[in-house]
Amino acid sequence: MTIPSIPLNTGAGIPQLGLGTWPMNDAEVADAVVAAAELGYRHIDSATKYANEAGVAEGIRRTGIPREEFFVTTKLDGEFQGEDRAVGGLRAALDRMRFEYVDLLLIHWPLPQRDEYVSTWRTYERLHAEGLARAIGVSNFKVPHLERLLAETDVVPAVNQVQLDPRVPRVEERRFHHEHGIVTESWSPLGGGGGVQEFLADPVLTELAERHGRTPAQIVLRWHVQEGIVAIPKSSNRQRMADNLAVFEFELTEDDMSRLATLSRGPGAGVDSDVTGH
Ligand code: A2P
Repeated sequence: MTIPSIPLNTGAGIPQLGLGTWPMNDAEVADAVVAAAELGYRHIDSATKYANEAGVAEGIRRTGIPREEFFVTTKLDGEFQGEDRAVGGLRAALDRMRFEYVDLLLIHWPLPQRDEYVSTWRTYERLHAEGLARAIGVSNFKVPHLERLLAETDVVPAVNQVQLDPRVPRVEERRFHHEHGIVTESWSPLGGGGGVQEFLADPVLTELAERHGRTPAQIVLRWHVQEGIVAIPKSSNRQRMADNLAVFEFELTEDDMSRLATLSRGPGAGVDSDVTGH
């Protein structure tokens, strides 16, 4: 199974479907990465806060597939904001992984009350220029946070990874990303924030699943794909990992997409990074 890539503003591509890894530990994630890679996954999403970067890299080494064929993301949390702390943060992450570079380095949360994301971004720009992070981006940034970065710094974030699913569609945010060439990436694409299994039992999803001969999770992930979003569903289960990749094998109609749009809980839904983050 070849997974389509979406172009980043660096010229590199990001595989549109990747493996989310929270809350797996090192041992679990290494096994998961091996299984995922056998199925065709090449994009793995980690973070220093998940405490599983070493396991991700170990899994990649165990596959025997060259490092360059993988797209690996990590994120640095608030501990590494300001005062060039991201330099030590990324070096430590690379040491844990025994990698020369990450494909994507994200600011995990804006933490606007600390007011250090702009200076942190300048540090990221240097780490990018030095080649330690092939692309740099942000996570959980709202439009005003992005506007500040665009106004006060030089490099446009390649990606904004946000909580996003049909109930939390972040329409305005995506419009802004699109205008500025920022790729939207969904964390908890299956609605993890509000309870995955309860969400997947929604009658709109079960009805579409039945019509297409697919699972409700596949309907949701196909929605992300058709919206042009990068999604990183977490699964520790090989069958569900395979199911989550099989979304490139079918299509939703315009009418299906309109029905999925009715699941939206409105523009304010989802976590608010002006008050949440670490
Ligand atoms: P598991 O690891 O047992 O497969 P999200 O990435 O949106 O936060 O969702 C993660 C949760 O969704 C995990 O609990 C994961 O459980 C479950 N999950 C992942 N893929 C599927 C699937 N295809 N069908 C049902 N549940 C899934």
